[in-house]
Amino acid sequence: MKGIILHGGHGTRLRPLTHTGPKQLLPIANKPMSQYCIESMKEAGVTDIAIIIGGVGSNKVSEFYGNGEKFGVKITYVKQDNPKGIAHAIGLCKDFIENEKFLVFLGDNIIQKNISNFSDEFLKSDYDAMILLCEVDNPSRFGIADIKNDKIIRIIEKPKDPPTNFAVTGIYFLTPKIFEIIENLKPSWRDELEITDALQILLSKNNNISYHLITEYWKDTGTPEDIIHANKSILENYVPVFNAKKESGVVITGDVSAGEGTIFKTGSKVNGPVIIGKDCIIEKNTVINPNTSIGNNCILSECDIRNSIIMSNCEIQKDVKIRNSIISSNSSIKQNETIKEQVFLLGEGTKIFL
Ligand code: DAU
Repeated sequence: MKGIILHGGHGTRLRPLTHTGPKQLLPIANKPMSQYCIESMKEAGVTDIAIIIGGVGSNKVSEFYGNGEKFGVKITYVKQDNPKGIAHAIGLCKDFIENEKFLVFLGDNIIQKNISNFSDEFLKSDYDAMILLCEVDNPSRFGIADIKNDKIIRIIEKPKDPPTNFAVTGIYFLTPKIFEIIENLKPSWRDELEITDALQILLSKNNNISYHLITEYWKDTGTPEDIIHANKSILENYVPVFNAKKESGVVITGDVSAGEGTIFKTGSKVNGPVIIGKDCIIEKNTVINPNTSIGNNCILSECDIRNSIIMSNCEIQKDVKIRNSIISSNSSIKQNETIKEQVFLLGEGTKIFL
């Protein structure tokens, strides 16, 4: 079975974080979110993978994943000039897929479940498609499946009046049958070729669409709040690896992972679950509280951080409480020694709550 990962789109709802690169490369527990998709696919035996790229900084995707060798998979890149829809992106992979069954992952979907059994079932089955559904509180934000007598009877994209709250997750098991449907698909109200419309047509032609309802953690990381939530959930299940040094008088509680070259100075406190990358300096009077991920090469002093993501090469050297925040690479928050005023140098779309 081959695989497709969607790594395109504009990531508008995540600006300013997405001004310099695709949202699917934003780190969750210090790993790009799309890497979780690759790992899930590999675990399910899918190692021949096409990645759809497009939009700002799409070159960063191939720089990070290369030919896939480092990740134990083989990667082919497929360019999508404009984000014309999920079905459009899948349609671009027709030659790559040839005659095989395939698994599609939306690169911004995080699932904490091994999908190998689903993949085995699909391979052995005569299903024309298989989708994974998950109950949600806000069904109007998703594709929704209507179910009667354990059968899917309708699939609708972002319905105003949802018949159920079973969201269609961004993990689709498909066969090449879908390509003919995609070729004849009309754009939706949001001017996209919708995969939900393609599935609905498949259904209406009496094809066999199977499904599983998953109860494990699944998140479409469309907003900053979703990313912070996914970070928390991944950290809660993280098996800690501690390769850092700590001086005497450092208080560490809970599960804390820290990379080589990182040092905790006397008087710092870390309260897991927390992950800290390599070569960081955690100075005295710094408190790192649960559900926090810190990237490589950060210098933290005097601050108190909770429920947040601080990417690599950041300096936070100020008595400041940081909560529910995402701070991009190479950012700094420092004490202004000369004038007792705040100085900001902000990129477009920055949000600060003082
Ligand atoms: O996450 C599940 C939901 O994903 C489903 O319930 C919906 O049925 C499905 O339409 C989709 O909804 P979203 O509105 O959240 O899709 P979004 O535009 O965010 O795109 C999903 C991913 O696919 C994202 O990683 C960007 C990528 N993408 C999107 C489009 C439209 C592409 O690579 N190319 C595209 O043309």
